[in-house]
Amino acid sequence: MSDAVSDIIVEDLTAEQATSELERLAQEIFRHDARYYQDDAPRISDADYDALRARNQKIEARFPYLKRDDSPSDRVGAAPVSKFSKVKHPVPMLSLGNAFSDEDVVDFSNKVRRFLKIADGGSLAITAEPKIDGVSANIRYEAGRLAVGATRGDGMVGEDITANLRTISDIPKTLTGDNIPDIVEIRGEVYMGHADFAALNARYESDGKSPFANPRNAAAGSLRQLDSAITASRPLRFFAYAWGEMSAMPAETQMGMVERFKAFGFKINPLMRRCEAVEELLAVYRDIEGQRASLDYDIDGVVYKVDDLALQGRLGFVSRAPRWAIAHKFPAEQATTILRDIEIQVGRTGALTPVAKLEPVTVGGVVVSNASLHNEDEIIRKNVRVGDTVVVQRAGDVIPQILGHVPEKRPENSQPYEFPLLCPACGSKAIKDVNPDTGKEDAIRRCSGGLICPAQAIEKLRHFVSRNAFDIEGLGAKQIEAFFAEKRIKNAAEIFTLEGRDAGFPKQLKDQEGWGELSANNLFAAISERRKIALNRFIYALGIRHIGSTTAMLLARTYGTFEALQAAMDAANDEDSEAFQDLLAIDKIGLVMIRSLKAFFTEPHNRDVLAQLLSEVTPVPVEIVRMDTAIADKKIVFTGSLVIMSRDEAKARAEALGAKVVGSVSKNTDLVVAGPGAGSKLKKAQDLGIEVIDEETWIELSAGSFLTKN
Ligand code: IVH
Repeated sequence: MSDAVSDIIVEDLTAEQATSELERLAQEIFRHDARYYQDDAPRISDADYDALRARNQKIEARFPYLKRDDSPSDRVGAAPVSKFSKVKHPVPMLSLGNAFSDEDVVDFSNKVRRFLKIADGGSLAITAEPKIDGVSANIRYEAGRLAVGATRGDGMVGEDITANLRTISDIPKTLTGDNIPDIVEIRGEVYMGHADFAALNARYESDGKSPFANPRNAAAGSLRQLDSAITASRPLRFFAYAWGEMSAMPAETQMGMVERFKAFGFKINPLMRRCEAVEELLAVYRDIEGQRASLDYDIDGVVYKVDDLALQGRLGFVSRAPRWAIAHKFPAEQATTILRDIEIQVGRTGALTPVAKLEPVTVGGVVVSNASLHNEDEIIRKNVRVGDTVVVQRAGDVIPQILGHVPEKRPENSQPYEFPLLCPACGSKAIKDVNPDTGKEDAIRRCSGGLICPAQAIEKLRHFVSRNAFDIEGLGAKQIEAFFAEKRIKNAAEIFTLEGRDAGFPKQLKDQEGWGELSANNLFAAISERRKIALNRFIYALGIRHIGSTTAMLLARTYGTFEALQAAMDAANDEDSEAFQDLLAIDKIGLVMIRSLKAFFTEPHNRDVLAQLLSEVTPVPVEIVRMDTAIADKKIVFTGSLVIMSRDEAKARAEALGAKVVGSVSKNTDLVVAGPGAGSKLKKAQDLGIEVIDEETWIELSAGSFLTKN
């Protein structure tokens, strides 16, 4: 049963027909992806499915400017991915912080030196190597043989792509050389060379298939094949540059490790250098940047790593990136295009965000049609108007930015943009808050509609089910939007009563277009599975302003149970109360966050929804790995100056030993480390009879905690 337009061959489509076809195909492919993903029993053959995707790509190739923002071709193999089984990384695969300028690199080096207390003249070797623009992978060898190969995934859990990685000739099946540790995990980048990429695309085009946008997409798409014979036919390559679990360390430096990888049989990047000074790092950066155009593979920056592994161990990690490494990115690519319109999006906290709608333009190999304009002041500051020719910049995975406009090209009749004073979703007044401490107006205008604003409600729900929150399989942004529109789900608690209420709807979920009995049951099962949820995810899911996933984790660790957190919130009535001060004493939790938490927990509607939610789900305390150390679980305050160890390192070491570092002394403090110049905190500790030690005693106490990554 096909309508007329879907029968027209791509070459004959008008732009209007192409638009409606792209819409139909996006929906159709999305539906099949969902079925494939949930049912394990797709309703069309692989060939028919591939034909849908191929038609979509072909239309996009003919009408690039019609490509949809939610185009299925940007979700390369999104559905099949779930077919791979999961692999937990014994050592998480983390990401890197970024440096965008020479100053950022100098800052990085200074911070490392400060952390390690290395004096200005003291030596500190740092390596520099290209940042390969490919797809990272972890390859595990047991007794020298390739055992498991996995994608990075979310850093903790990746997907098992062993069969595909085995087809890459740069990846040895058996390690060579001497002294191979029993367990070796090699990390590196799978990439496709320019010449191979061009040849592959030429072959595709002559076969009537649409080409890949860039070598990275080609590499990613090739790795995600369920049939490893397809991967084998793709010219993939691999550079080894890091490691995960190692049963023994075969070297003591970064450079030494990579050299050992070479002996094991891997390709390593020939441009890697070891430097002694920041100036040298910057010289290598310029050198690599100069060679960029003539390299046969894409790189998007230079990675610097502290060479000495013992120092890497001392520096450790902060949230998801090492303190001992940084990626110095090449300047972002830019292009000019026309600003067609400015649309206002309403976020979950009511923030009105202007989004630039652009005439589609290719920036660094990717078609861009939207860019962020951040807020009202930004539009004024950048002086952009609808109709302007604007400069668009895209850096890595960051949302494209608008830098400014080209004055000569401004149309004569253009008008400054008038930012709406009413919420476009619900019509409520949109206002700017005033910061109570500074008396200054916020840059962000927010919808004051709260509960009545449908845009805020949807965004809250989307946040609730997002990856770091409830992450319910089969309940993504699209389904949330549909359920909200159908009034099946109006708030988070209703997600968990969906099944019970299903029979009461004129059309049950299984009878809805695109569902079916199996999918509906799978969804209900996936929801049920989340009735027990880690406390940190639960807190994060509430979508409290300023409370991101790191803070949610801190709160979960500090309070242990949701009841304890709520009790603390209720007790923290005024800013002088002990409960409030205890909150403030948690390292990395500031006044703005606490006020926001307090505001959330005081709001009657929030309390209602929370109560409903808690009658459906049980937050499970996070697993706290209790460490068997002298200071595990102790609350420690550092005060005065430290002479031998930097304050940052002392803190990091305390945390690595399972202690909590707090900012102020209270009766709950267990230990105070006081250095020269300690004042009121020391006195308070003495008054309260809390144990006080000096830096040397601290170093003895914490000795042996130089945790290496393994
Ligand atoms: S080191 C703990 N070295 O960049 C840090 N990463 O933003 C381990 N990448 O996921 C990464 N070239 O996919 C490192 N020479 C290189 C790299 C590199 C590319 C990628 C890698 C990683 C991402 C971090």
